[in-house]
Amino acid sequence: MGEVGVASRGKRGLIIAIDGPAGVGKSTVARLLALRLGYLYLDTGALYRAVAWKVHNAGLSPDDHLAIAALLPKTTLQMACGPEQSHVLLNGRDITGELRTPAVSALASMVSAIPAVREWLLPVQRQIGAEGCVVAEGRDIGTRVFPEADVKFFLEADAEVRATRRHRELVAAGHSVQFDQTKRDLTGRDDRDRSRAVAPLIPASDAERLDTSSMPVEEVVSHMMAVVAARL
Ligand code: DC
Repeated sequence: MGEVGVASRGKRGLIIAIDGPAGVGKSTVARLLALRLGYLYLDTGALYRAVAWKVHNAGLSPDDHLAIAALLPKTTLQMACGPEQSHVLLNGRDITGELRTPAVSALASMVSAIPAVREWLLPVQRQIGAEGCVVAEGRDIGTRVFPEADVKFFLEADAEVRATRRHRELVAAGHSVQFDQTKRDLTGRDDRDRSRAVAPLIPASDAERLDTSSMPVEEVVSHMMAVVAARL
């Protein structure tokens, strides 16, 4: 199992789960919500990305499930969660800045379909959220990682809108990539995330579904704050 470093958070507070497909704005709203509440922001996608990074650097094919499973016990993963950004240390090295490339995104979606990878990351995520006071975002937070979460949201948005958001982020980060390519990558990743056998991307039955296609970020966060405030 991976090792996890977490700042002390005092008494048990709420667990807030935010799930949804790529480019839907999960990270932005989860980060803002965590900041306003003084909660930890847990970016679970970064953990899958870290495994993908390791697979890539070990020169393994994403289809080689046995070799990937054998790599996991030799890997330590530490996540230093802050209210704004989660830093990921793999075998002691901070790889946070190397996790958001298109190549790692595609590979993360592939390795996340491997049951051994999901099982290995489950206790890592649960340990970080054990004390509560956490806003966790991902694909299976409300269904699998924290089915007992106090508040659950499932964000949705039109594929065109999501691709536009993701393309803007990539260009701002200095990647030279065509919009059509970004859209193809994003919808391909979604199809894979939704159709995998283990913990697919689906809304939890008790999650509030929010279509953010034409909702400004501030409106989404204000709505979430109101829902959370009623539970505090
Ligand atoms: O949220 P993200 O784009 O950083 O996630 C990268 C990939 O990791 C995504 O395509 C699917 C996978 N993932 C997952 O399967 N379960 C999660 N809780 C978070 C991410």
